[in-house]
Amino acid sequence: MAHHGQRPVTMLHLQIQLVLVACLLCSLVSSSTTGTHSTTGTAAVPVPCLPDQASALLQLKRSFIPTDCSVVAFRSWRIGTDCCRWRGVSCGDDDGRVTSLDLGDSSLYSGHLDAAVFELSSLRYLNLGGNDFNLSALPPVGFERLTKLTNLNLSSCNFGPGRVPQGIGRLANLISLDLSARLGIDYTPGVGLHYWAQADGSYITLPNLTALVANLGSLRELHLGFVDMSQSTDWCEALAKHTPDLRVLSLPFCFVSGPICGSISALHSLSVIDLQFNDLTGSIPDFLANFSFLNVLRLSYNNLQGWVSPAIFQHKKLVTIDLQQNEISGSLPNFTADSCLQNLLVGQTSLSGTIPDSIGNLKYLTKLGINALGLSGNLPSSIGKLKSLNDLRVSGIDLVGPIPSWIANLTSLEVLEFSDCGLYGSIPSYLGGLSKLEILALYNCKFSGHLPPQVSNFTQVRTLVLASNNFTGTVELNSVLSKLPNLTVLNLSNNKLVVVDGEADNSSMVSYPNIIGLYLASCNINSFPSILRHLNGIQALDLSNNQIHGAIPQWLWENLSNFEINLLDVSHNNLTDIGYETFLPICTDYLDLSYNMFEGDNPLTPSWMWI
Ligand SMILES: *[C@@H]1O[C@H](CO)[C@@H](O)[C@H](O)[C@H]1NC(C)=O
Ligand SMILES: *[C@@H]1O[C@H](CO)[C@@H](O)[C@H](O)[C@H]1NC(C)=O
Ligand SMILES: *[C@@H]1O[C@H](CO)[C@@H](O)[C@H](O)[C@H]1NC(C)=O
Ligand SMILES: *[C@@H]1O[C@H](CO)[C@@H](O)[C@H](O)[C@H]1NC(C)=O
Ligand SMILES: *[C@@H]1O[C@H](CO)[C@@H](O)[C@H](O)[C@H]1NC(C)=O
Ligand SMILES: *[C@@H]1O[C@H](CO)[C@@H](O)[C@H](O)[C@H]1NC(C)=O
Ligand SMILES: *[C@@H]1O[C@H](CO)[C@@H](O)[C@H](O)[C@H]1NC(C)=O
Ligand SMILES: *[C@@H]1O[C@H](CO)[C@@H](O)[C@H](O)[C@H]1NC(C)=O
Ligand SMILES: *[C@@H]1O[C@H](CO)[C@@H](O)[C@H](O)[C@H]1NC(C)=O
Ligand SMILES: *[C@@H]1O[C@H](CO)[C@@H](O)[C@H](O)[C@H]1NC(C)=O
Ligand SMILES: *[C@@H]1O[C@H](CO)[C@@H](O)[C@H](O)[C@H]1NC(C)=O
Ligand SMILES: *[C@@H]1O[C@H](CO)[C@@H](O)[C@H](O)[C@H]1NC(C)=O
Repeated sequence: MAHHGQRPVTMLHLQIQLVLVACLLCSLVSSSTTGTHSTTGTAAVPVPCLPDQASALLQLKRSFIPTDCSVVAFRSWRIGTDCCRWRGVSCGDDDGRVTSLDLGDSSLYSGHLDAAVFELSSLRYLNLGGNDFNLSALPPVGFERLTKLTNLNLSSCNFGPGRVPQGIGRLANLISLDLSARLGIDYTPGVGLHYWAQADGSYITLPNLTALVANLGSLRELHLGFVDMSQSTDWCEALAKHTPDLRVLSLPFCFVSGPICGSISALHSLSVIDLQFNDLTGSIPDFLANFSFLNVLRLSYNNLQGWVSPAIFQHKKLVTIDLQQNEISGSLPNFTADSCLQNLLVGQTSLSGTIPDSIGNLKYLTKLGINALGLSGNLPSSIGKLKSLNDLRVSGIDLVGPIPSWIANLTSLEVLEFSDCGLYGSIPSYLGGLSKLEILALYNCKFSGHLPPQVSNFTQVRTLVLASNNFTGTVELNSVLSKLPNLTVLNLSNNKLVVVDGEADNSSMVSYPNIIGLYLASCNINSFPSILRHLNGIQALDLSNNQIHGAIPQWLWENLSNFEINLLDVSHNNLTDIGYETFLPICTDYLDLSYNMFEGDNPLTPSWMWI
């Protein structure tokens, strides 16, 4: 699993939002147990902060590097004042001892987690999540001193490689434990999925989950996203045996493997199961449909197989079902109007059969991913009733018919993808009414006709993929790019289009730093598009199977050598001259110059490529 570097925030895919919302609800429930309540119940005068508590807090404060954010966070932390009133601090037992410390999301920065925090031995609630500990290791000893802790949150703290401290396993009162790294997922059709964690490339390891949870019988929430649990082969039995009250089980990107064990059926209280991006095998157990509190079920990107019980889709409380990218089979059942489903994602699976009309009963649906090749029949018009849909992805080799007119009703759509399908006909002009579209991807289907001028209405569009259809007519590249300022990926490959430069008005002389992928294979292009002079952020350029002749221009090499290009394909053209050899080899993962008419040496000798 390669981590991806930080990407623009606008590319953040929002698939994970629901889990977070669900977690928030749950954490509200659990943190209520740590609220301020007086142990005496009478009008006892609260004892001000004890000196040892204040000095531990001040030492902790000093361990953070002074920044604008730390000034804000610690403004009230002044010597000689009552530390029980400091921001983020409370002393719930009115005995002058700190019971709660919340420095979550304060943008603090430190070279290590200072041991002073372990002096606060009355702590029940500790949240340091979302601060930056500069890849230092979690302190191996100390946590065991915080015996009263119910909530421990060290999520997204940028801790470096190292083991989960054993002392955490001795905190028998823990209700909620969060050691996860914050996660972003970004999907681009054809380009694929990129994800990244806040701590880029470094993993905390947990070799033995049993050893962690054996004494944590009160645990309700366990968040270990991006913790390396590849050695914890006992993960499933450990949870079933030791954490009977578990409500939130969140282990995405944890390298957990093996089947979802039968003994997990004992965890009746589960409301969130997030096991996406692991190496799970076996089938999706039927008993999941019997968990009456289940809201979120995410098992996507695993190796699960077998038949999926329709009862899972018909579960009355489920808000999110995400089973994408597994080998699972089965079909979509009839849906009733009392369903709570907001996200139904079953793409890249072996699901088959027709799409039931009753899908129109899922009135809360916002994301519908039914991009499974095996789906067939017609696209039911009842989908047009789902006004809240903002993400619709459909495939199905035997799915036939024209682009349905009811699409125009789905004005909230931000993502529309019809791929690998039998849908045909031209793009109706009323599609131009979908002004919120950010991804429009119609590829590997049977669409035809000219691109309507309304394409320029998609001013928000980031990704426009119309590849591998039967589109005809002439496309003026300068005009398309100048009208779609947010475009990052354009793919018009493998149609019957003729792509030309078009009018170069003043605006086309500006640069297009947003464009990262330009895929124009088989577009009847006969010279290097002039727009390439202005694409100063490009990472992938496919001009293969065109009729470009002559030399590769010097300006192109100069331009490309300025940035990291991942893909450059000019194969299957009539090029006769490499052009400007001093710039070679350029730094690229994939370079294809084959099937041209270069004179002299075969330019595809390995010295031409950096891999
Ligand atoms: C942990 O803290 C982070 C940052 O404040 C927050 O986003 C996250 O929801 C918390 N986790 C739990 C389980 O409450
Ligand atoms: C953070 O880590 C880097 C690299 O190890 C180091 O140079 C730097 O001094 C550290 N910063 C702090 C505040 O410890
Ligand atoms: C875009 O076009 C290229 C050919 O240039 C093709 O290989 C790729 O799969 C296409 N992407 C999509 C999403 O269809
Ligand atoms: C994991 O920890 C438990 C409890 O400490 C222990 O009994 C077991 O042997 C450990 N498993 C492995 C594989 O080390
Ligand atoms: C689900 O619950 C029902 C009723 O309690 C029971 O009959 C059924 O066997 C259970 N199914 C599974 C797979 O546990
Ligand atoms: C779904 O409902 C339709 C019409 O109401 C019915 O013909 C079909 O058999 C039902 N399918 C399933 C799987 O229950
Ligand atoms: C589309 O919306 C119009 C107006 O709200 C409505 O009359 C029509 O039935 C809708 N079409 C579908 C297929 O839902
Ligand atoms: C294109 O957008 C304009 C306003 O931005 C709108 O008036 C027009 O109706 C849209 N075109 C189509 C075909 O919906
Ligand atoms: C593409 O369109 C042509 C007519 O323009 C038609 O003969 C051909 O069958 C179409 N191909 C596909 C794959 O739809
Ligand atoms: C599109 O770009 C404009 C400015 O270039 C920006 O304000 C807007 O947020 C972008 N929209 C999206 C969806 O990224
Ligand atoms: C284009 O540039 C010319 C001269 O540089 C100027 O007169 C004209 O107004 C510009 N047109 C637009 C649309 O900006
Ligand atoms: C490209 O080369 C082929 C084979 O030599 C030739 O038949 C064709 O006419 C050339 N096309 C152009 C546009 O030069």
